[in-house]
Amino acid sequence: MIQRQKGCNDIYGREAKIWKYIDSVIDAVMEKYNYTYIRTPLIEATELFHRGIGESTDIVTKETYDFVDRGGRNITLRPEGTAGVVRSFIENKMYGDNLPVKVYYNGTMYRYERPQSGRDRELTQFGMEILGSDDPLCDAEIISLAVNIYKMLGLKEIKVNINSLGDNASRLKYREELVKYFKPHMDELCSDCKERLEKNPLRILDCKVDCDSDIIKNAPKTLNFLNEESRDRFEKVQEYLDVLEVKYEINPNIVRGLDYYNHTVFEIEAKVDGFGANNVLGGGGRYNGLCKELGGPDTPCIGFACGIGRLVTALELEKVSLPIVEDVDLFLLYVNEEEKNYAAYLSQELRLAGFIVDTEYNNRSLKAQFKQADRLNAKYIAVLNSEDINNNEIKIKNNKTKEEDIISLDAIIYYLDEKINTNIEEDYGECSHECCGNHDGCKCHNHEEEDL
Ligand code: HAM
Repeated sequence: MIQRQKGCNDIYGREAKIWKYIDSVIDAVMEKYNYTYIRTPLIEATELFHRGIGESTDIVTKETYDFVDRGGRNITLRPEGTAGVVRSFIENKMYGDNLPVKVYYNGTMYRYERPQSGRDRELTQFGMEILGSDDPLCDAEIISLAVNIYKMLGLKEIKVNINSLGDNASRLKYREELVKYFKPHMDELCSDCKERLEKNPLRILDCKVDCDSDIIKNAPKTLNFLNEESRDRFEKVQEYLDVLEVKYEINPNIVRGLDYYNHTVFEIEAKVDGFGANNVLGGGGRYNGLCKELGGPDTPCIGFACGIGRLVTALELEKVSLPIVEDVDLFLLYVNEEEKNYAAYLSQELRLAGFIVDTEYNNRSLKAQFKQADRLNAKYIAVLNSEDINNNEIKIKNNKTKEEDIISLDAIIYYLDEKINTNIEEDYGECSHECCGNHDGCKCHNHEEEDL
């Protein structure tokens, strides 16, 4: 049997519905914040990621899927979304548009990592970028937007960690200090960190192996190396975060794994029990030098990305109840070919009228069809009968209470509308969203429509 590749997942059934629901919340929130959707290719020139993410980063040295295409070009499957967005910004001369450009994406990325819980080779990220503004309000907006998406989905146990790497001068000074500090402790570092010392010393600080060691705890902190301008800027970001009522902690060990960052960096952690080591739901930061590095105009940018797989895990661990539709409104059963034709016709009519309708496809016995209706959680069932159809009637049964009504076929849409669409609150159950304690006047994503 051919099996899926390591670190890749098949997502189907209920889980696929959760993914689709998450996508819908992302789209709805992004629209309110006025970010436009951007779709960039899965394949890009290898050079984009070497120059963009950094030659010495883990991603570029060990994790990219690289290949030479049939035309002899060096191609890489994108390991993240930011470099492609910046390439597109430059190539399509978006810098000529009204700045800033605010975009979001949601798609598959590839990283050749050792597969483990929360670490896949094929991963899906949604992310957003603001290109063309250095305003600290953008930093705060991106952080609060990420937090608000998590909240809208019903997550409660999250923690925001922020830090600043300062401008290039501050970052360079800090890097030198770190190398000086770690060199005498070389033997106490893990094998990866020994390599990082020359190439990427900042990454030693967020090493998962060495993170609890005293050498890391006592290492120099970025914030002590910020020049005045960078310090003022970071304070302004914090002021705006307070205005937006975002709770955060300053964590000097947040340095991020990609080379393009400066100034604000941040990560959002899941705090729910049982997550394991890979509990960072998402991260991002400012990358003011990347656009120029990739051949575009000097353009300050900031962004964030979140792994959807980890987000689904967090929702499951927090037992958030999501408004996933798992029931069929009506299941149509039949015995003969004439009734089957009518089932096909009526299913289509009712689906186009907005109901979730299913029917039998394999000409199975009525007993098997009843079982199928139960498996699909059909709220109502109707056994089509030639005589009833000729009399313009249908018997509809509530599949739970077994109460039956005989109604005119002309009235079926009104009947279902009354029976199904007036019970939305009951069907959704307890609202788990932070913005409401009860359903009355609730303005959360699930109930907004009802209130209107
Ligand atoms: P990143 O920290 O590399 O940042 O990835 C962001 C998120 O993607 C992680 O926090 C995690 O949720 C998810 N993720 C990353 N690698 C894996 C994996 N192997 N398996 C499962 N999930 C994973 C970036 O990608 C930056 N482009 C973020 C950004 C946007 N910075 C500025 N703009």
